[in-house]
Amino acid sequence: MTKPCEHGGAFFTAIGERFDRLERRDQVIGADVLDAWFDPAPGVVAALRENLAWLARTSPPTHGEGLAAAIAEARGVPESNVLLGAGSSDLIFRALREFVGHDDRAVVLDPSYGEYAHVLGEVIGCRLERLALERARGFALEPARLAAVLRSAPRLVVLVHPNSPTGRHVPRGELEDLLRAAPRATRVWIDETYVDYADPGESLERFAAESTNVFVCKSMSKAYAMSGLRVGYLVGPRDELGALARITPPWVVGLPAQLAAVRALEDGAYYAARWRETADLREELALGLGEAMPGVAVVPSCTNFLLAFAPAEGPPVRALLDACEARGVFLRDVASMGNTLGAQGFRIAVKDRATNARVLAVIAAEWRTLVGSARGG
Ligand SMILES: Cc1ncc(COP(=O)(O)O)c(C=O)c1O
Repeated sequence: MTKPCEHGGAFFTAIGERFDRLERRDQVIGADVLDAWFDPAPGVVAALRENLAWLARTSPPTHGEGLAAAIAEARGVPESNVLLGAGSSDLIFRALREFVGHDDRAVVLDPSYGEYAHVLGEVIGCRLERLALERARGFALEPARLAAVLRSAPRLVVLVHPNSPTGRHVPRGELEDLLRAAPRATRVWIDETYVDYADPGESLERFAAESTNVFVCKSMSKAYAMSGLRVGYLVGPRDELGALARITPPWVVGLPAQLAAVRALEDGAYYAARWRETADLREELALGLGEAMPGVAVVPSCTNFLLAFAPAEGPPVRALLDACEARGVFLRDVASMGNTLGAQGFRIAVKDRATNARVLAVIAAEWRTLVGSARGG
């Protein structure tokens, strides 16, 4: 049987998968997943709290009509160009199997979010190709190389944009020019899970709504602090989304999630302020990492996470991650996210200032110990 794709979230081992040590949730730091460091907007939390029992026992609007309308209004696209999913993971699994057949070519970035290579290569079993992004070039997606991939007319090209775990992105104008020149028969799937942290104005949602072959997959997990609720949506050509709507189960987004997402979209100012703060916290974290681990290389990022590399000649990064885990700090080993990352990479989520300080203190102490015992031994 095919194994599922590897993800962060190992911190649940410390809390208990049956939630039996839930009181530990504030001691354990899950910097291995990229959940928001802030709470949902106050109006979201109040709406959930005030209606909790009703939300739990009531069937939601069958196709999330109100939520789709709220998304369309907030994004300036027609409602018929929006399709809801229970998180973007649901959309990835639902749509890509319709888009790509066993004999088709599909191209993903390397490194990138692993679920795409998993669904395309393992679940669908199509002819999967990888566009290698090199460390020596800062993992940049070079427009000329993307243009060449598009010209080769694969069935599907997937761009995680900004990319994970690299935190890099191509300016919207450049990307739109490349997409306009792409063959019509090539579908391009742009995963914008982290775009709001870079700049919401960089989103290609409107471009996708007007195109015949471009799809923007938007998660509300990370930017709207709703990972636990499961809301995502796809913006793309109306006919294609109509075909996907026919194979979408009723009530695909739960009622607490629908209510929370509608209220979240009503308070854009709250989230915009959090995204701006994230940029400051990220730069502080990058500086702190440099002090905690002399010689570490941190890749510049526009998102809520950092990709870093421990010195090649230092102790193995896996030993650092294990030592941090033993102290309740979970960081992401990126080895499984691509072939160009080498052995010393790790990804760290940006948290609030106090939590970042705790993470850095643990990293600094454990790294010092590892370096000391390597010297001593
Ligand atoms: C790039 C990317 N896309 C999609 C997802 C899935 O997000 P969700 O299913 O919560 O919307 C993630 C989760 O980490 C991600 O990093």
